[in-house]
Amino acid sequence: MKRLGILISGRGSNLEAIADHIARGTLDAEIAIVIASRAEARGLEAARDRGLPAISIPSKGLDREVYDRLLLDELRKHAVDLVCLAGFMRLLSASFIRQFPNRILNIHPSLLPAFSGLDAQHQALEHGVKITGCTVHFVDEELDAGPIVIQAAVPVEAGDTVESLSARILKEEHRIYSEAIRIVLSGRYRIEARRVILI
Ligand code: GAR
Repeated sequence: MKRLGILISGRGSNLEAIADHIARGTLDAEIAIVIASRAEARGLEAARDRGLPAISIPSKGLDREVYDRLLLDELRKHAVDLVCLAGFMRLLSASFIRQFPNRILNIHPSLLPAFSGLDAQHQALEHGVKITGCTVHFVDEELDAGPIVIQAAVPVEAGDTVESLSARILKEEHRIYSEAIRIVLSGRYRIEARRVILI
């Protein structure tokens, strides 16, 4: 069984959705460790309530390389095959990323390359797009830029607020993250330049 390491910083709803897919048998994997970058991350409690191994490694005040070394040690200790960033609000160092070539996924609440970075849903509303969505992509050394595994489109409706739009996008996030993990763990894909091609 392939082992997931899930990194969070906050609420952890994507983590919970992945755990639900595993529990329902629609994703064949196990969560080896949940790591939060903040001790107060709500997702930590949700993970522990489900009996998942969950720890916090607070990042505050730590140099990036030092922090990433701690992360790496923990992920190695738990023999993690695939690292899933699920609302993990930190940049990872190039040396960390090189330890997991095409073995780190991230979920982002926009149709990349539009609206990378922080507050993607707010950016989409401000720009006035009619369609936005979410993206699961491989993590490379640039922000929100690696090869795209799967995307889902979500309409922006008249009267949307950041909250209502975020909720509509989140529903799709919860569906596509597990789908992307399934694809990557199956190994039935190849990457050509930027394109992830399913085989
Ligand atoms: C999700 O909407 C995720 O796409 C976003 O943070 C939220 C985390 O929610 N991630 C980013 O914006 C990354 N740049 P969750 O903690 O409930 O999964």
